[in-house]
Amino acid sequence: MSDKYPESSGRRRFVKGVVGSATLAGAGTAGVAALDSVTNPSGAGGGPVEYYAVENVAGPAPRGMPMVPLEIDDEGFVRGIYPEVQKVEQKGETVEVAREEIGGIEYSPDWFQYCGVQGYEGVDPGYDGDNYFRYSNTGYDWQPTSGRVNVEDFQDYDTWENDYGDAGIGKPAKATWRSQNTENTMPIQIIRSSIIEDKIESESGEVVDWLDAATQDGFMAILNKCTHFCCAPSGFRTSSYGGADDKIYCQCHQSIYDPYSIVKKSFVAFARPEN
Ligand code: FES
Repeated sequence: MSDKYPESSGRRRFVKGVVGSATLAGAGTAGVAALDSVTNPSGAGGGPVEYYAVENVAGPAPRGMPMVPLEIDDEGFVRGIYPEVQKVEQKGETVEVAREEIGGIEYSPDWFQYCGVQGYEGVDPGYDGDNYFRYSNTGYDWQPTSGRVNVEDFQDYDTWENDYGDAGIGKPAKATWRSQNTENTMPIQIIRSSIIEDKIESESGEVVDWLDAATQDGFMAILNKCTHFCCAPSGFRTSSYGGADDKIYCQCHQSIYDPYSIVKKSFVAFARPEN
């Protein structure tokens, strides 16, 4: 059967809501104070932030790369989730703040604000485009070089193989996100794997709550920007170096990330530059 139109799994999907919306809507100061502690006056984010990452397991990278939560539309196209944008009053000014709770964590563009990405149009709430992932023209041999990522192209995900790792550990693609007609491109590693589906079905805990909300039908997405010196890693199943066959490999200084070891991490995000 075609999996173009993903079946409903019956399990709970989204744990989602706008963080602090009730407080922010009120006249009290508590919500405003909380917001001030995590955003600068322009609403451009920055500061300490917790996020879910694919763990760095070897090499010099200081922390994991951030996941991008995703969803699949009725026609099987896969798109990243950008946090809900709210207009809030802050220090007498109306500013746009993008943040929402997904899978038990506060998700915001801060997750991606490192390595210069904080200046990319795609992380800005005002980005003029949609949220669909589009195939990169420098991806895997099998994949299209343009167009929107679709479930149909991943029907063989449980048996797909290349020169690295065993068949069935996941089918990868390289994509871009929120990068149409922009100066800079947000590079995305897509993986579809039954390992993710199995984790959700058989394990429990906060990481599983996150995966349940941030992945769908075995699809996961990662910002493919190495936290070491900012290279775009060659990716999942692209090297045998140091046992990286079934992992994400960064060719610049041999950092390795495990896409199936999801960890909650924190770092100090840069603020987005003022327009
Ligand atoms: S290991 Fe240095 S940039 Fe990736």
